[in-house]
Amino acid sequence: MKVGVLISGRGTNLKSLIDACAADDFPAEIVLVISNKADAGGLEIARAAGIATHVVSHKNFATREEFDRAMTAKLNAADVDFVCSAGFMRILSDEFVDAWRDRQLNIHPSLLPSFKGLNVYQRVLDAGCKVSGCTVHFVRAAMDEGPIVAQAAVPVLEDDTPETLSARILEAEHKLYPHALRLVAEGRVTIVDERCVIEGDTTVA
Ligand code: GRF
Repeated sequence: MKVGVLISGRGTNLKSLIDACAADDFPAEIVLVISNKADAGGLEIARAAGIATHVVSHKNFATREEFDRAMTAKLNAADVDFVCSAGFMRILSDEFVDAWRDRQLNIHPSLLPSFKGLNVYQRVLDAGCKVSGCTVHFVRAAMDEGPIVAQAAVPVLEDDTPETLSARILEAEHKLYPHALRLVAEGRVTIVDERCVIEGDTTVA
């Protein structure tokens, strides 16, 4: 499976996907990384791994649709058949979501459907949650919604700050995203009534 990864920032999830794909038995290969920001740290990570990169700046397009079309053109030109959003901070148009329907994953740092959107860690702390975590899901038009492929829970500790909680969740993300991509790439995930049915063992390695 040829994967294109969308990023906007430091790219630690991208790095975890690159490292996973390096294993001989991993059923997917990252062929392209697109960032909407020229200074995204993840671009350097991709280049160091010998992966093609493109900067597609949203600022160069009059509409969301035109920006998204430019991304789809780059993805198609690289023969990408599956998209992973990894810290990509733009809302996608319905057109892009439809073009990649059931062929696009996103990772979000909460146990969805709780705590969609931004400022997640502070909101989790304010709510007094005792656990939080991360979710990998198929992308749908509404932000942070879509069939859930995998989730991991982490404890929320009494003295947590947004920084300490996000670091704990990020560690879980780095295991969860490769795990979820593997499940999908192995053809073990079927979407039934907008829920993922997963074949076989789903233990995160
Ligand atoms: C991660 O916490 C991810 O869940 C969220 O944005 C962050 C991206 O971090 N969508 P990185 O760029 O992968 O380090």
